[in-house]
Amino acid sequence: VRIRGIPHRSVWLEHPGGPVCVIDQTLLPHRVEVRRLRQLDDVLRAILEMQVRGAPLIGVVAAFGMVLAAREDPSTPGLETAAQQLRSTRPTAVNLEWAVSGLLHSALDWAPDERAFRLETEAQRMADADVESNRAIGRHGLELLRTLSLQRGGAPVRVLTHCNAGWLATVDWGTATAPLYLAHQEGVPVHVWVSETRPRNQGAALTTWELGEEGISHTLLADNAAGYLLQQGWVDLCFVGADRITRQGDVANKIGTYLKALAAADAGVPFYVAAPTSTLDRRLSAGAEVPIERRSPDEVRWVSGVTREGHVESIRISPPSTPALNPAFDVTPARLITGLITEEGIVPVAQDS
Ligand code: MRU
Repeated sequence: VRIRGIPHRSVWLEHPGGPVCVIDQTLLPHRVEVRRLRQLDDVLRAILEMQVRGAPLIGVVAAFGMVLAAREDPSTPGLETAAQQLRSTRPTAVNLEWAVSGLLHSALDWAPDERAFRLETEAQRMADADVESNRAIGRHGLELLRTLSLQRGGAPVRVLTHCNAGWLATVDWGTATAPLYLAHQEGVPVHVWVSETRPRNQGAALTTWELGEEGISHTLLADNAAGYLLQQGWVDLCFVGADRITRQGDVANKIGTYLKALAAADAGVPFYVAAPTSTLDRRLSAGAEVPIERRSPDEVRWVSGVTREGHVESIRISPPSTPALNPAFDVTPARLITGLITEEGIVPVAQDS
């Protein structure tokens, strides 16, 4: 996707054997700054501090983290420790665990002096596969938008999304946004309702920025406004992403997704989850088994933004010592989900599980 008209990915290698480059998402939409990650510690910090975030992107950046680790210490104990450190950064997105464990497993079959080079090839392959898979998700989701557009006599299809399941959350295209980008390219008119997504405001800061850069019509909403819009009949369908999907189709995604799904079901509006099949965790049956990340209460007490003078600053919005709880994800039960849009096609989700 593009920044100021120039095609970009959210993660790339500066050159073979070189540093891993990412866009620091904590500074968006105010500043576009590229961070060069040169060692494993830089990757751990980037994931923990959410300079990179979003399930597929965390997975790919962690894969590059294994490459950096192997350049520093390609021994088996060295790589096992690195994998453990990467796995412990964020617990909910299965992509991270899947990417790191897969690479570790392969690396142990290779001679230590080949590991860094071969891991780099594998991590690059994962990045490219993510782009292809999102493009395929986009093509399947586009058919839904086309059908609705015809039903609406060519008026824009109004899509509600939550958090950022956009290209910034993946290597390119995004999952929930891929159908929107393709629709825009193919002349199918869409309008996107973007919910702000407290406490970290990924919707307000990231999704609006992405859509704006691509020229896609959108409106930012306070999180609590979505129910009203759904009730008014102003939403034709919902597209969200996923961090982990269980065998019975329960979906862990950004906190607040569940409330949107409840309101959509009450209003009779289709609710789709767009995610690659790698987000499916076949080991888990029900949503209650998904580990839910709890982040710092300060993320609830403080918000960050830009001052009129253009300085990025944080301000506190509660009394200093107010207790705050910050679960970062929730689980939407399968019965509230119309379908999963995967790279393989649209899978209807059981309505009575
Ligand atoms: O805490 P974040 O910003 O990493 O959470 C991101 C989400 O919940 C996304 O919806 C999900 O990872 C899917 S991204 C394609």
